[in-house]
Amino acid sequence: MNAYEKLLSNNKSWATKTVEAAPDYFRNLAIQNPEFLWIGCSDSRVPANQITGTHPGEIFVHRNIANLVIHTDVNLLSVLEYAVVHLKVKHVIVCGHYGCGGIKAAMTNHDFKQVLNMWLRNIKDVYRLHRHELEAIADPGKREDRLTELNVQEQVLHLAKTSIIQRAWQFTQSPELHGWVYGLSDGILNPVFRLGPDSPLDSLYRYDDMKVDG
Ligand code: CO
Repeated sequence: MNAYEKLLSNNKSWATKTVEAAPDYFRNLAIQNPEFLWIGCSDSRVPANQITGTHPGEIFVHRNIANLVIHTDVNLLSVLEYAVVHLKVKHVIVCGHYGCGGIKAAMTNHDFKQVLNMWLRNIKDVYRLHRHELEAIADPGKREDRLTELNVQEQVLHLAKTSIIQRAWQFTQSPELHGWVYGLSDGILNPVFRLGPDSPLDSLYRYDDMKVDG
């Protein structure tokens, strides 16, 4: 059996077992009503549902390398707008993880070629912003862990800079933004940063003439 055929066969037995245990399972999932948007790393070791003990229907998910929020990323912005405006999620979670290949790569001087260089440069910008704090950490592993935490923090701030989030904050007092880092070695989520509708935002980024349906 090919590796991919195993997935299809696993799927058949999962669907059968699921309906046996709960005959209405799929009928109940006909409409999704998730409370959470998850922006995580593409890393195969960080599956959103499994590590949070949630089920299909509970988390709307976007994943990319090193869980970046980039303001020209139409994919991410579409997911964010749909989740916030239409699904009305209560929480947006940016989840990084210790041991992230993207973070490690951005800390090297290696040429990963154009597209990856372009993506990783965003992490180098986070490093530059926090260079003083990071370079005071002598241990390279601890410095990498701290960059992982600071990266999550900066991505949450990037979310708060969007008019999508600011409009939702002003008119619906929601959602809350969270920055978490997952430990590959212990399976534990570490909450490192949080922003809500009443959190202060650098006035440079604040829109002061937003309309409810703008
Ligand atoms: Co990663």
